[in-house]
Amino acid sequence: MPGLVIVGSQWGDEGKGKITDLLADHAQLIVRFQGGNNAGHTIVRDGEEFKFHLIPSGILHPGKTCVIGNGVVIDPEVLLSELEGLKKRQVSVANLRVSANAHMIMPYHVLLDTAGESHLGKLSIGTTRRGIGPCYADKSARLGIRVQDLLDEKILRKKIMAALEPKRLSLRPYEKDPSLDLHTITERYLEFGHQLEPHIADTARLCWESLDRGENVVFEGAQAALLDLDHGTYPFVTSSNPTAGAACIGAGVGPGDIDEVWGVAKAYATRVGMGPFPTELVDTDEGRRMLERGHEYGTTTGRERRCGWLDLVALRYAARLNSMDALVITKLDVLAGFKSLKLAVRYRSSEGAVLDHFPYHQTILHSATAEYEELPGFGEEITECRDEEELPSAARDFLRFIEEFVGVPIRLVGVGPSRDQIVELGEGSPYS
Ligand code: GDP
Ligand code: IMO
Ligand code: MG
Repeated sequence: MPGLVIVGSQWGDEGKGKITDLLADHAQLIVRFQGGNNAGHTIVRDGEEFKFHLIPSGILHPGKTCVIGNGVVIDPEVLLSELEGLKKRQVSVANLRVSANAHMIMPYHVLLDTAGESHLGKLSIGTTRRGIGPCYADKSARLGIRVQDLLDEKILRKKIMAALEPKRLSLRPYEKDPSLDLHTITERYLEFGHQLEPHIADTARLCWESLDRGENVVFEGAQAALLDLDHGTYPFVTSSNPTAGAACIGAGVGPGDIDEVWGVAKAYATRVGMGPFPTELVDTDEGRRMLERGHEYGTTTGRERRCGWLDLVALRYAARLNSMDALVITKLDVLAGFKSLKLAVRYRSSEGAVLDHFPYHQTILHSATAEYEELPGFGEEITECRDEEELPSAARDFLRFIEEFVGVPIRLVGVGPSRDQIVELGEGSPYS
C-alpha cells in the first residue's frame, strides 16, 4: 500500500496534520503537494503543540524524508522561520527537501492579495492574505519565480523585473514601499536561496525512488474539497486543487502510484472566510458550543471559524470527487453532551425542489437550505475511549449512519487533539 493520499473533505481544518503525523509512523516519505502557508496543520504530542504552515506533518519522525513538492507555493520567510522554530525545539530538519520547481510567494503577491480583497469589498473571499491567489496566478501566467531561480542572480533579477512589469498599475499605491524595490527584492531572495540551498532537490525523483523501493509514501493535502479551485464553491475557494488528483501533479507521480485515498472530516462542519455553508448554525447555542468545545479559531489567521452540522450531501460529493477509500472522522469528542445530533441528508432549493446531490450551480447552492436526519446524542465524554466498544452506542450509531450514507468505511475516529486520542474502526490504520 505504498502511495496514500490524505485530503480534507470539507472546508479545511479537519485535522489532516494529526492524521498525517499518525500515519507517517509507517511511511518513509511525506509530501505536501499543494497550497502554501494559508494552511495551518496542528499536531499535539505529549502535551506539546506544533503548528505547521509549509513543512509536512511528518517532520517530527526522525530519519524520514519530508518533501515540499512542486505544487506548493512557498513564502521563503515563513519556511525559514518554521525551520528555525523546529531547530530551537531540537527537531531535526536535515531531511527536509524542497522542490526546485515550486513557486515562490513574493512581497508583491501578499500586497496584491490584500488589495484585491479590499477592492472586492462586500464580495471579498476572506482569503488568508498570504499571497496565495496572486502567486498561483503568476504561475499560470508564466511569470512566477521558482525556487531554482533563487540560485542564479541574473535570472532572478530578470524574472522579478518581468513579473513586476504587468503589475505596475495595481502596485502604484505601493510605489514607495521599499520592499518592492527590484534591487531589495533580488538581494533578499538571493539570501533566502542561500539559506535554503541545502534543502533544494529534484523531489519528484525522490518520490519515484522511494516508491520504486516499495516504501510507503504519504501525500499530505492542505485545504479541502469544497475549497478546490475547480470543484469547490467558486469563487469562495483557494487557488489550488486540494483534491486527490492534484497529489500526482503537485508531487510529480502518476495516478498508478496512488494506492489509497483517505478523506478527513470533522464530526460537524466549519468554514473560515466567506461563501455558502448550508448547515451553518448562525447565532445559536449549538453553534457556540461547537466553537467553544472545538476551539474553532483559525490556526493561520486566528479568525473564528463558522460552525454547523455535518453535511453529508457535501461529504458524499467530496468522497466521489476524491475516489475515497476510507474516511477519518475527527473531533467526535466535541459533540458529547448535545441532546441530539443532526446530519444534513438533502438540500431544499428556494423553489422547493429536493436536491440529493451537491448542486453545481452557485445560485442554487447559495439559497439552498439543508434538511436533517436527527439522531440521539451521547451524554458522556469520550476523550478516554480507545476502542470501538468503549464508544457510547449513540456515537457508534452516528458513525454508522455517516458510513452508510457516504458509502465509504470509517477507519479512524478522533476523540481528542493528542496523537493517542484515536479509535480504530474495522480494519483501522492502513498499515495495521
Ligand atoms: P488541519 O488544517 O486539517 O491539519 O487542521 P487544524 O490543525 O487547522 O485544525 C484541527 C484542530 O483540531 C487542531 O487544533 C487539532 O489539534 C485539533 N484536533 C484534531 N483532531 C481532533 C480530535 O479528534 N478532537 C479534538 N478535540 N481536537 C482535534
Ligand atoms: P488547512 O490546510 C481553512 C480558506 C480561506 C478563504 C479561502 C481562500 O489548514 O485546512 P486563500 O488564502 O487560500 O486564498 O483563501 O480559503 N482557506 C482555508 N480554510 N483551512 C485552510 O487550510 C485554508 N486555506 C485557505 O479562509 O476562505
Ligand atoms: Mg488548518
